Amino acid sequence: MVVVLNFGSQFAHLIARRVRELGVRAEVLPFDTPAPEIQRHQPVGIIFSGGPASVIEKGNPRPDKNIFTLGIPVLGICYGHQLMAQMLGGEVTTGERWEFGKEILTLNTRQGLFNGLRTREVVWFSHGDHVTRLPKGFIDLASTPACAHAAFADAKRGLFGIQFHPEVSHTACGTKLLANFLFSICKAKKDWRIPSLMRSIVLDIKQEVGQKHVVGGISGGVDSLVAATLLHRAIGNRLHPVLVDTGLSREGEVAQVGSYLRHHGFKTLHVVDAAEIFLRRLRGVTDPEQKRKAIGHTFIEVFEKTIRTKLKKYPIAYLAQGTIYPDRIESASISKAAAKIKSHHNLTLPEKLGFKILEPLRDLYKDEVRRVGESLELPKKLLWRHPFPGPGLAVRIVGEVTQERLKILRAADAIFIEELQKSGEYKKIWQAFAALLPLKVVGVMGDARTYDSVIVLRAVDSVDGMSADWHKMPDELLEKISSAIVGKVRGVNRVLYDVTQKPPATIEYE
Ligand code: XMP
Repeated sequence: MVVVLNFGSQFAHLIARRVRELGVRAEVLPFDTPAPEIQRHQPVGIIFSGGPASVIEKGNPRPDKNIFTLGIPVLGICYGHQLMAQMLGGEVTTGERWEFGKEILTLNTRQGLFNGLRTREVVWFSHGDHVTRLPKGFIDLASTPACAHAAFADAKRGLFGIQFHPEVSHTACGTKLLANFLFSICKAKKDWRIPSLMRSIVLDIKQEVGQKHVVGGISGGVDSLVAATLLHRAIGNRLHPVLVDTGLSREGEVAQVGSYLRHHGFKTLHVVDAAEIFLRRLRGVTDPEQKRKAIGHTFIEVFEKTIRTKLKKYPIAYLAQGTIYPDRIESASISKAAAKIKSHHNLTLPEKLGFKILEPLRDLYKDEVRRVGESLELPKKLLWRHPFPGPGLAVRIVGEVTQERLKILRAADAIFIEELQKSGEYKKIWQAFAALLPLKVVGVMGDARTYDSVIVLRAVDSVDGMSADWHKMPDELLEKISSAIVGKVRGVNRVLYDVTQKPPATIEYE
């Protein structure tokens, strides 16, 4: 495996994903992970990500300096490249101009890291500082007009630095370069493959669980569905999936998931209709954090009660969850981050339930989960659904959640999604949904005045939901969706399209 040290770059995860796409396992670790801890993972290579800081600033993030003496090849990218130069005795200064975007890189060599590349390559830069003097023992591998030391190496020690980003698609030769690092320099093995991965997950579950029973939380989402399917393969009906219908899901979602599971041999499925209790707990609650908390607590209460009553005759020892790798990273980084934006809630159940936690997808990214799902032959419609937040439609209804408002939102959202799917736009979008504002506005329908609700359409392009851009939707499609919603959903007389990026907005409304 390869360790990616994260210096705060938006692209750290993209680097790990690219490495995995090349068939090598990659794990993102915090930049200050001590060298012995890194060694414990037995990596064949280490990659330093980029980052927003400057190596010239005081207190900039720095790795354990012993990393350079482990005898493990290191590739520094952007900030990581400057850091390597500076920590090993070179010099970095702030450039006279920012290099941002595409640049032409001229190579001094087409061997090693640059094997199979052309003499001139288009690469993607994003930096202000640059290396002005190489550390002792290093040689230049490439330059641009504004950056003399755009790539350098001390090949004997296995240390490489590149000022540009090989992980982004604008760097056309990026995949080749990463492959050279992995396979020629680190001698990595290609063993991160979906079928072998699935086999080893199923085997691990069998070994861990033995003859005991497992309870599994199912939401409408992809992750818990894939986790449950793997668990079912491993232990059959000793898995007890519990699907809590909170009444806050998308149209048809609970019915679809329930029906899929029932038709695929999940004989022990429990669907718990708890819509009424959730609605009761949300009555009069308008504060977003209070709403999230009320939903989280109610969920745990309903889940616990189901185990105590319906499942009491089974020797349950494990609680299975669909936690995936980014969830773990996010919760780890939450403790380091200064401000809490939202109490994220994945219907994660507390350990106080007294069971051991089983997370079969804990090392996988979303796209890998989907590929596992495809191998398991899960329906495409369920697999490729956009992400959906744990607290459901409640965080898309600004203000109080009521039955009436849920009905309006669910209907508008279903029309929006259906039109996106029909037009083929759905696949181009990372996440799309409708939200309901706590407003009434004036309109005219037929010859009569209306005084009705406002629906906002949100569609975003993103890689991981951490940052997002609004999706540039074709005008005619927006118009069609708007007319369909106002025409078909009673109680709505206006449709808006949200054109805000994250940051400063968030994707959801609460
Ligand atoms: P925000 O609104 O924070 O959302 O920009 C980023 C991504 O996270 C999803 N989201 C959640 N997912 N539990 C989840 O599992 C939550 O509590 C939650 N809140 C937001 C959101 O849909 C978007 O994809």
